[in-house]
Amino acid sequence: MTNASDFIKGNPDMTEDTLSLEEAAARIKVKAPISSIQQSVAEKPLLEVDGLNTWFPIKKGIFARTAGYVKAVNGVSFSMKAGETLGVVGESGCGKSTLSRTILRLEKAHSGTVRFMGEDVFSMKGQQLQQYRRDMQVVFQDPHATLNPRHSILDILTEGMLVHGLIKPGEAQDVAAQLLQDVGLQPDAMHRYPHAFSGGQRQRICIARALALKPKMIICDEAVSALDLSIRAQVLNLLMELKDKYGLAYLFITHDIGVVEHIADNIIVMYKGEIVERGTATDVLLNPQEAYTQRLIAAVPRVG
Ligand SMILES: Nc1ncnc2c1ncn2[C@@H]1O[C@H](COP(=O)(O)OP(=O)(O)OP(=O)(O)O)[C@@H](O)[C@H]1O
Ligand SMILES: [Mg+2]
Repeated sequence: MTNASDFIKGNPDMTEDTLSLEEAAARIKVKAPISSIQQSVAEKPLLEVDGLNTWFPIKKGIFARTAGYVKAVNGVSFSMKAGETLGVVGESGCGKSTLSRTILRLEKAHSGTVRFMGEDVFSMKGQQLQQYRRDMQVVFQDPHATLNPRHSILDILTEGMLVHGLIKPGEAQDVAAQLLQDVGLQPDAMHRYPHAFSGGQRQRICIARALALKPKMIICDEAVSALDLSIRAQVLNLLMELKDKYGLAYLFITHDIGVVEHIADNIIVMYKGEIVERGTATDVLLNPQEAYTQRLIAAVPRVG
């Protein structure tokens, strides 16, 4: 099975598709105005999850017979567009991380499909899979666990790009400085090691590492859950700035529905592996239909 750090390194061998919309339109002699092409590109789903089931077998007896399944993700379907932020909320154990790990191909689906830009993710291989691994990045909850303590920030940010020949060694410092600037850190931070940063700063470094491969989408799995409230707000603001700057889509996973209040366009609510409610963030938060969603909202602490 692919591990998370391999996944993060992404792929090297692909070249960027540098054809602009104008060039593409000229080549295929498209008569439609560019604005309508841009609109149709924006409206095409970036990620489509259809009837996804990720079940873990429950083994019993001395012969480890499969006696049943933990249906961690059960019949989940949704789609999201480029540049969209989709909040995935639900209590601990409802299957949020299993959903993200299945999309990332870190967990094997029992059945169902995941499509990214129209391509079937589970059957990708070779260069197509490598490209997917660059386009789809992830930021986990615990930056301690995902930053190698023996690597400098410069190494952490540029290792993947260097190994795969995306940049030349002489360019590493400039690239790292730009990434650090993007996430609100000073360029000299590149010469320090992970222990020399606060939790919030470490999470900024994880975000910078995710940005390094110029993804189209980032899965944030409880990415701000371990941060105190003021730092959490800063990191959420940073994520929103980066989304606007780079046109990123986020699948934003959290057990705390209050976290997605200010950032999600749409929300899905999960309970015991299934989606029990979905809608625009405004609809779900202001007019929740399900008692479960109402309880999640009521559980958000509010000052006063
Ligand atoms: N590898 C595995 N083998 C067996 N069961 C698993 C495995 N991974 C997850 N599960 C089970 O699947 C269910 C969903 O777990 P998951 O980690 O996806 O929940 P979650 O919503 O991310 O929870 P949290 O908010 O605490 O992170 C849980 O019952 C968990 O015990
Ligand atoms: Mg989880």
